[in-house]
Amino acid sequence: MRRKWQRVAVLMGGVSGERDVSLRSGSAVSSALRDLGYQVLEVDLGSLAVEQLVSLSSEVEVAFLALHGRLGEDGTVQGVLELLGVPYTGSGVLASALAMDKRMSKRIFRAEGIPVAEDVVITAADVRAAGLRRVAEGIALDLGFPCMVKPSGEGSTLGSSKAVNTEELEEALDTAFRYDDVVLVEKYIQGRELTVGLLGEGPEALPVLEVVASKGIYDFECKYTQGMTQYLVPAPVPEDLAAELQRLALRAHRALGCEGVSRVDFMVDGEGKAYCLEVNTLPGMTELSLVPKAAAAAGYTFQETVERILNTARVKVGRRGAA
Ligand SMILES: Nc1ncnc2c1ncn2[C@@H]1O[C@H](COP(=O)(O)OP(=O)(O)O)[C@@H](O)[C@H]1O
Ligand SMILES: [Mg+2]
Repeated sequence: MRRKWQRVAVLMGGVSGERDVSLRSGSAVSSALRDLGYQVLEVDLGSLAVEQLVSLSSEVEVAFLALHGRLGEDGTVQGVLELLGVPYTGSGVLASALAMDKRMSKRIFRAEGIPVAEDVVITAADVRAAGLRRVAEGIALDLGFPCMVKPSGEGSTLGSSKAVNTEELEEALDTAFRYDDVVLVEKYIQGRELTVGLLGEGPEALPVLEVVASKGIYDFECKYTQGMTQYLVPAPVPEDLAAELQRLALRAHRALGCEGVSRVDFMVDGEGKAYCLEVNTLPGMTELSLVPKAAAAAGYTFQETVERILNTARVKVGRRGAA
């Protein structure tokens, strides 16, 4: 089959808290593409990202995004690539920005009838006006304990923590506000953690994967330390629950307007009720990451997974239809 592209830039690194993870995704994707015969330009996006993007636009035909977190997964880099007319993998500007903002994506999920955990949204202005103690006491009354505190716009569980009383909640809020001016406090869902990858045109819902984190919460340490987490794929759950999660994942992906690839995270409580936590628009892409693992369970090699994502690349708004 004739390939759409020969020269591919793999964008990685960036300036978010997930920089190191992104470098690992980027180098795994680059090796896979080289093994497939593509000419690969590895680009570690630093503080001169715009200049780097302008210069790669004349050297390559397409950009493969292996960035995670802010200023990479959130629509900003996507916007520059739109302006430059460079086709790129994954979601467009709006879907990327919505998915990165948990407050906004939850609003859309609620409007679409996709189940989410009950929450209270707190802004830095609320804390300035009432003080941390009063805010924490208010949340304790509204939501109760345990609760999960997370910055609205960060990934990899950075700045997130569980609180079981007002003192812990104050501390958790203080931490979360170091990452973002908007913080989500959610009802803690006691149960199992399941995630669904979506891949390629369509997209195809991959087998459900269960994450069993040794610390209970799948935090930064559990995510990136070998042996601290077990991954079960296909997840040992009843068939109807697996099918329901795949359906919900597709709905969440489409509700935000995602493309090419995504991974939708869920908590499922003791009664089997699923809550959608978030959509990751540029999920980890090392060979040990969750989407590649789930794709392997569906019979795709890592190279095939990477190439399927590459094949969905396009300019999403700017030059569409322009001759
Ligand atoms: N409401 C919740 N109840 C229980 N655990 C949660 C809840 N929200 C998040 N978690 C835990 O925290 C982890 C990270 O949360 P998530 O919303 O997926 O954000 P991110 O992965 O972007 O940091 C989840 O994988 C899960 O282990
Ligand atoms: Mg997550």
